[in-house]
Amino acid sequence: MSFKITVDEKNYDLDINPETPLLWVLRDHLNLTGTKFGCGVGQCGACTVLLDDKAVRACQTPINTIGNKKVTTIETQTDKTVQKLQKFWVQEDVVQCGYCQSGQIMNAASLVKTNPKPSEDDILKAMDGNICRCGTYNKIKTAIKAATAEV
Ligand code: FES
Ligand code: FES
Repeated sequence: MSFKITVDEKNYDLDINPETPLLWVLRDHLNLTGTKFGCGVGQCGACTVLLDDKAVRACQTPINTIGNKKVTTIETQTDKTVQKLQKFWVQEDVVQCGYCQSGQIMNAASLVKTNPKPSEDDILKAMDGNICRCGTYNKIKTAIKAATAEV
């Protein structure tokens, strides 16, 4: 079946099984491997991307459910919120092995787009489902706070 999809402001036409998860569309069909496969069952958040401004788990999002919504990934060249978070991720030296971090940043981007000045509680609640086996949670919180404190 054929689908039109917009990813990071580029348009693609794909002939693909309608139940293919967005994660595999991105990684296998579009070669956008910045979005990671962790658990594959919606538990870890490694595969998080934005559909319009909302964080979704790409492993649990079949391509036939996307419709006209725009997909934004960690590989965006244009999304200012994602770029700002990336800058503060570097400044706060968040990353350890790095595997979970594209999902962490995309989840944080969804938070900041809907709540530009989140409280510590808001940050903790929003980031709760994104797992980091290296335990970078405190630095993630600090980076989000720093990014949202900047005028
Ligand atoms: S790979 Fe999608 S939530 Fe873990
Ligand atoms: S930085 Fe290693 S899993 Fe999060």
